[in-house]
Amino acid sequence: MRKNTINSPAQGAPVMSVTQLPQWKALENHAVTMRDAHPRDLFQQDPGRAETFSLEACSLWMDYSKNLITSETLHLLLDLARARGLESEIQAMFDGEKINRTENRAVLHVALRNRADQPMRVDGEDVMPKVTAVRRKMADFARRVQSGEWRGHTGQPIRNVVNIGIGGSDLGPVMVYEALKHYSDRGRTFRFVSNVDATHFHEATRDLDPRETLFIVASKTFTTQETMTNAHTARSWLLETLSDEAAVAKHFVAVSTNAEGVRDFGIDTENMFEFWDWVGGRYSLTSAIGLSLITALGETHFDALLEGYRDMDTHFRTAPLEKNMPVIAALLGVWYGNFLDADTTTILPYDQYLHRFAAYFQQADMESNGKSVDRQGRPVDYQTGPIIWGEPGTNGQHAFYQLIHQGTRMIPCDFIGFARSLNPIGDHHAKLMANFFAQQEALAFGKTEAQVRAEGTPEALVPYKTFAGGKPSTCIMAPQLTPHALGSLIALYEHKIFSQGIVWDIYSFDQWGVELGKQLAKKILPEMEAGEGTDLQHDSSTNAQIRYYQKHRQ
Ligand code: F6P
Repeated sequence: MRKNTINSPAQGAPVMSVTQLPQWKALENHAVTMRDAHPRDLFQQDPGRAETFSLEACSLWMDYSKNLITSETLHLLLDLARARGLESEIQAMFDGEKINRTENRAVLHVALRNRADQPMRVDGEDVMPKVTAVRRKMADFARRVQSGEWRGHTGQPIRNVVNIGIGGSDLGPVMVYEALKHYSDRGRTFRFVSNVDATHFHEATRDLDPRETLFIVASKTFTTQETMTNAHTARSWLLETLSDEAAVAKHFVAVSTNAEGVRDFGIDTENMFEFWDWVGGRYSLTSAIGLSLITALGETHFDALLEGYRDMDTHFRTAPLEKNMPVIAALLGVWYGNFLDADTTTILPYDQYLHRFAAYFQQADMESNGKSVDRQGRPVDYQTGPIIWGEPGTNGQHAFYQLIHQGTRMIPCDFIGFARSLNPIGDHHAKLMANFFAQQEALAFGKTEAQVRAEGTPEALVPYKTFAGGKPSTCIMAPQLTPHALGSLIALYEHKIFSQGIVWDIYSFDQWGVELGKQLAKKILPEMEAGEGTDLQHDSSTNAQIRYYQKHRQ
């Protein structure tokens, strides 16, 4: 058991910065020789690269052979991971150690999808009995809504479920609801409200009947300004029609770690679905935060989702690093971000159902690894978390792929695709997947000047029509988009983020960086409302912006 306090330069012996490790330096030297490596040469040297650099785990197959790596690159990256103690850190997470040291909390979202009879402990307590009890309560709630047993205040069945939450209490439910819509209850309407902009609430509820509408207020803290504002507006919206405070009990349930906050809002804690401080907001999808999902998908599909997660968790915990899918994915990211100067990475799902997948992992990755202080409290002298972005293919091809193909930046891409479509209409899927394969091939191999000339291209256009190639991509495929495959896919990215945080020696499970803006907004709100003559003590830019608002708001 390691000590659970945070280190600071003043405490204990100084720990070497990761950039001082011999393994880091070896990678720097190796990068010099790899800078001009090209897939054309790499595949010529080893025509069997797809065999060498691919892995199968859970429902997923990952082909990473089009990356700018050799066996030596991987070997050196794995050396770095071992030097950073990745294996024991993985174990520490699964053992419930308080690895979120800046908040003195365990990081045990893996318990949420663990089997009921496999103990997982925090502070010596097996958390599985309470995890299982909440899961049962969620399933029971979903069944009652679906069967019509849970009725609104006037006795009408619930036809609309609106999840109110933001960040981790919204992005995951939205993403998975959209991803698994095919499997969902189509007889009911599911909506998600997150933005404090009233437009979001208005558009989500304008065509709903309050008598048939149930709100799930999802907030770990139950203090988040956006969520609380939307929840109060929802309450007023409901009571405008039902004019009876007692209606709240039939139309509001809460998901939170804060029972007192839930009670203060007026929701009976009987209708509260609990989770715990060892579940980070952006890793909370499989906690009670998934209440809207189990209601939309039903227990069987929700369980299959959890099973997909669990299989990837087991793989991550038990597979040797060199055959460990999340670890390999993480190390590829380290390779590009720290040794080949990539700033961003794209997630490109070739499945319309995954249209919120990149947005979900923007929070999971950027809120986790957007850090610039190491575990010794020192500013880092290397890059940490990348910028995550992406859109589904093929739409992205007609938007930003030009820059990936012929721009000046290196942008590693993750391509996600499925062999079978959930909507097999005509030849749509074959065309979609032809594009999926073609883009990766084009990025890697490009088109040489000689090839362009051989097509009879006028000489003046040859430079413009030449594709350098050498753009790295990783391909992740599954037979079909199922709840199980999606669970494995999400867990793959979660553990990738974890592994990168370990290599970078940062704390991935706090998010202090989002606090300052929240504090300032609280201060500014009354100033705005005080009107035009108010004394504003900000910088001249902020003052001018507030004045503009005050002048034009009527
Ligand atoms: O954006 C900061 C954050 O704290 C996220 O980490 C979290 O997912 C989100 O706000 C919502 O928090 P809560 O679930 O407590 O309302």
